[in-house]
Amino acid sequence: MNLLTLSKINKSFDENEVLKNVSLSLKKGEVISIIGPSGSGKSTLLRCISGLEQMDSGLIEFNDITIAAAKKKIINIKAIDAHKKIGMVFQNFNLFPHKTVLENIIEAPIIVNNIDKKDAINIAKKLLTKVDLLDKINSYPCTLSGGQKQRIAIARALAMSPELILFDEPTSALDPKLTSEVLKVIRNLALEKISLVVVTHEMEFAREISDRIIFMENGEILETSTPDLLFSNPKHPRIKQFLNLA
Ligand SMILES: Nc1ncnc2c1ncn2[C@@H]1O[C@H](COP(=O)(O)OP(=O)(O)O)[C@@H](O)[C@H]1O
Ligand SMILES: [Mg+2]
Repeated sequence: MNLLTLSKINKSFDENEVLKNVSLSLKKGEVISIIGPSGSGKSTLLRCISGLEQMDSGLIEFNDITIAAAKKKIINIKAIDAHKKIGMVFQNFNLFPHKTVLENIIEAPIIVNNIDKKDAINIAKKLLTKVDLLDKINSYPCTLSGGQKQRIAIARALAMSPELILFDEPTSALDPKLTSEVLKVIRNLALEKISLVVVTHEMEFAREISDRIIFMENGEILETSTPDLLFSNPKHPRIKQFLNLA
């Protein structure tokens, strides 16, 4: 059974067709990386999955429940509950600046999932230990490095017990030293068999963690393949060019 199924998604901003008949599916425990040039629609695709953007046509199913369809957000209890199991981590962290690290992590579990504050705090402490930042529990985001902010953002996503986490270029705002500490956390999630969709420019990393790689350009999926095949012998000339193999 697929955890996530996208069927023929189309999305335009005015005249600009950003997603053209995009279909893809992901099984539980699978890690998919999406690569491709800037402007190809990668972020828009993730935003459609997470419900931040509405598509013009197509269907998104999660755990066999329709969570989005043409021009409408599906609003019934099943769909809302299903959506809560999809986490998203952004390039620019998107932490609440006026809240502490702890408050950032416990807010959604308490408000959206109705978890007791005490339990939410215990979960937050476990997750902060996991991302090696328990000592920052009472800090404000502005006092943290980019790598630390991103690890907090990952802990915040994990606090909702997601079945799928979408990463949109999680290390693009970081210098190489901070990048590696964030990639390590994501690598561990992949090893734990959490389902992931990762948009990234870190090709070596994508090759290492992914079950499948998707190459997108101009709103279309040009190729879906295993990492070994796609990186050594892509079929499409554009991908060869993109990977400097041409
Ligand atoms: N909110 C928006 N309004 C108008 N155009 C947008 C919006 N978001 C994205 N776009 C356009 O959609 C295209 C794809 O953008 P995006 O999904 O961010 O690509 P990528 O993440 O691959 O760089 C670009 O041409 C971009 O300018
Ligand atoms: Mg993007």
